[in-house]
Amino acid sequence: MSALLRMRGVRKVYDTGVIAVEALRGIDLDVEAGDFVAIMGPSGSGKSTLMHILGCLDVPTGGSYELGGVDVSHMSEAELAVVRNAQIGFVFQQFNLLASMTALRNVELPLIYAGVGRAERRERAQAALARVGLADRVEHRPGELSGGQQQRVSVARALVTDPTLILADEPTGNLDSVSTHDVLALFHELHDAGRTIVLITHEADVAAEAHRVWRITDGLLSEAAPSGGRA
Ligand SMILES: Nc1ncnc2c1ncn2[C@@H]1O[C@H](COP(=O)(O)OP(=O)(O)OP(=O)(O)O)[C@@H](O)[C@H]1O
Ligand SMILES: [Mg+2]
Repeated sequence: MSALLRMRGVRKVYDTGVIAVEALRGIDLDVEAGDFVAIMGPSGSGKSTLMHILGCLDVPTGGSYELGGVDVSHMSEAELAVVRNAQIGFVFQQFNLLASMTALRNVELPLIYAGVGRAERRERAQAALARVGLADRVEHRPGELSGGQQQRVSVARALVTDPTLILADEPTGNLDSVSTHDVLALFHELHDAGRTIVLITHEADVAAEAHRVWRITDGLLSEAAPSGGRA
């Protein structure tokens, strides 16, 4: 069986002109379809850089990356956008919701990009918000929601396109313990429904929710011993 995600020797160099930073120094990673994986590491270790490449938001400087058997490491920005929209749902630490739009409109956005018609969009966005427990907040703007509720909106936005892969970068970094629990419970539900989850965090207790944990240190990845967490 082939991996859903397969990285070999992935490197990323940020060349700002003055000094080149080697943020990833040869990453090998396989993630099977249906896995729930956490990637842990300290600040500056390369987690977000890795997530950007995993999520087809950026391409590696070297090495190869295959998503669903397709080499995406040399794709153009336009080609990457198509892959992202079809296959990946994102959850970020800062929620990344549009402040002027209601929760419903925020969740509809990826469906607009996917060319889904108005009525179906509305219906699917409403269902996604209901799924994260926010059926009664669809007309609220982000500023009228708690942090935990905002993150649930962004989980709804991540799942509304029915992606195979959900990528989350510090999704609980701005949440209190109750909201952290709620959001992690949603990830477990999505995983139980067959989605592949890659969760990036620097918190050991959040990483322990995953079935496999990888550690990234100074741009290099290694598999951690089984966490004994909920698996
Ligand atoms: N756009 C960029 N240009 C230049 N250097 C960058 C850029 N983005 C990240 N870096 C550098 O690459 C390294 C890895 O950064 P990255 O953001 O991936 O770390 P991180 O593990 O996500 O950290 P944190 O936990 O603080 O979010 C850091 O040394 C950082 O300064
Ligand atoms: Mg980061």
